[in-house]
Amino acid sequence: MALYKNAMLRGKNQTTDILVKDGKFAKIGKCCEAEGEEVIDLKGKLVCEPYCDPHIHLDYVFTASSFGENSTGTLFDGIASWSDSKSTLSADIIKQRARKGLKEQLLGGTQYIRTHVDVTDPNLTGLKAMLELREEVKDLVEIQIVAFPQEGMYSYKGGEELVEEALKMGADCVSAIPHFEYTPEMGVKSVKKAVELAVKYDKMVDAHCDETDDDMSRFVEVLAYEAMDKGIGEKTTASHTCAMGSYNNAYAFKLMKLLKKSGINLISCPTENTHLQGRYDTYPKRRGLTRIKEMFDEGINVCFAQDSICDPWYPLGNGNLTYVLDSDFHGGHLTSPQYMNKALDLISANGAKTMCPGESYFIRENNPASFIVIDAVSDFDALRNRAGVLMSVRNGRVLFKKQEPTFETPLAL
Ligand code: FE2
Repeated sequence: MALYKNAMLRGKNQTTDILVKDGKFAKIGKCCEAEGEEVIDLKGKLVCEPYCDPHIHLDYVFTASSFGENSTGTLFDGIASWSDSKSTLSADIIKQRARKGLKEQLLGGTQYIRTHVDVTDPNLTGLKAMLELREEVKDLVEIQIVAFPQEGMYSYKGGEELVEEALKMGADCVSAIPHFEYTPEMGVKSVKKAVELAVKYDKMVDAHCDETDDDMSRFVEVLAYEAMDKGIGEKTTASHTCAMGSYNNAYAFKLMKLLKKSGINLISCPTENTHLQGRYDTYPKRRGLTRIKEMFDEGINVCFAQDSICDPWYPLGNGNLTYVLDSDFHGGHLTSPQYMNKALDLISANGAKTMCPGESYFIRENNPASFIVIDAVSDFDALRNRAGVLMSVRNGRVLFKKQEPTFETPLAL
């Protein structure tokens, strides 16, 4: 039993107490200390639901230094570099690196992760590694695995069968990469097949979709329609959708209506796509961003993710979602109060909606006591300072604690 005193819940201007008992929120409100109870004074710091990273590639992390350099910085050369070297990776190495990435994510306050795993591999080495890892760390973090055909469901020989096999082996979601397929027809076919497989195996869909500056890449509308038609909109996600930033406004206006009606979720990966896109432009250079603000205004569920940690597609990344948040807020022109005051939704609740953990995710009495303590007093404060996470608690168990940073200065500040 532990009593967390002086917690600032999001959207409030007064602190409260949180009593945790048997791994659940026993009471949220002013509490008296009981004998023998551990008391933690949160000193007015912000308490939030755990962060969610709904789109990362844990089987790729920390491969940038050992694989051939992606000298053009493009998505396609990243795929070529990965394709050339991926067979050199053993399941043990993949797991070892993934654990390192996972640790960075956990220390950043993340407790929910959706990882895309390359299944265009006849041995399904990465998938086997991730299935084992998911089981090994299940008490620390919830991991969803996406069966992702990195080299194409149809452009890679046997890709469709490998995706289906991955679902049978335990992947939670099915994916596609239509903008990479050789022809638009193959791209459409891959999106339809992903939805068909999701229905067949009762899985979720999360497709890499339109990750390109090509304004003719319009697979997100196919995904939205197919998901809506099959009644699985809320279980369906389109990741990246960079091409939306290049669509003409007349088409984008029509598309927004469909996205809203379909109920699908959208994920933006701003740091990676700012790095990858615009590579064929001179000036002005596109920055790879989807229409976040417009989707937000339409009430479409949008969330942000750290796609990569040091892999052939992005040389940086450390799992700290406040950096990602900062990037999309600037690039997406979200720097006005109505967005900034709800900033953390984009790396917490909206990500959770995408991953569908249900009502148990939220800080409510009788729910599992999973939360983070942020070195801030409000969403605005957390956004402005890229505030760190001081504590992460999962089912009542403290995963880590950090001291609030201190400094010394002779200046009279
Ligand atoms: Fe990705």
